[in-house]
Amino acid sequence: MSNRIAVLASGRGSDLQSLIDAVAAGSLKADIRLVMSDKPGIMALERAEKAGIKAVCVPRKECANQQEFEEKMVAELRKADVEYVILAGFMRILSPYFVNEFKHKIVNIHPSLLPSFGGAHAHRDVLAYGTKVSGCTIHFVDEGMDHGPIIMQGAVPVLDDDTEDTLGARVLEQEHKLYPQAVQLLIEEKLEIVDERHVKILK
Ligand code: GRF
Repeated sequence: MSNRIAVLASGRGSDLQSLIDAVAAGSLKADIRLVMSDKPGIMALERAEKAGIKAVCVPRKECANQQEFEEKMVAELRKADVEYVILAGFMRILSPYFVNEFKHKIVNIHPSLLPSFGGAHAHRDVLAYGTKVSGCTIHFVDEGMDHGPIIMQGAVPVLDDDTEDTLGARVLEQEHKLYPQAVQLLIEEKLEIVDERHVKILK
């Protein structure tokens, strides 16, 4: 059993912060060895530094191609000796190469109830479609986008006067509650991948 995790982020880092806070509170017994981003100067890196966590940027723009980018990230992850990779607002699609390097050890959080509204504009798409509920989905990462087997979901209402910001904030509250719980189950090895669609939470 290993509690060593890395968190990958591309922006604000509030999901990362929820994990940092849960570790500080003792409800998440993870060792966040590394926070890594594909962009320099983002808030997630600042949050990591503030918490005393190693923060590394592998700028995608400075890499010749996706393979070089991912090889550099894998090298950092190996150096940090992590067992699990937690995607928290990481806005890059990962190739089969990366996914297989950490097979069944990568999880992601997406701000909609998958399989509805995958992609980069979930809240906009939910509001345009007119659904009455939305939420977040935590899932294992496989080779498809927003696709792997689902670990947990949290639902919230969509209100008539919602904007992307108000809906996003309501969904984020769920994210910040559920992601630390899901990561704790992951490191406790309580998430059994039954088949390519189903995850059982062990008691
Ligand atoms: C979250 O809504 C998450 O579901 C999605 O990206 C957003 C990240 O927010 N994958 P933050 O950067 O953690 O604040």
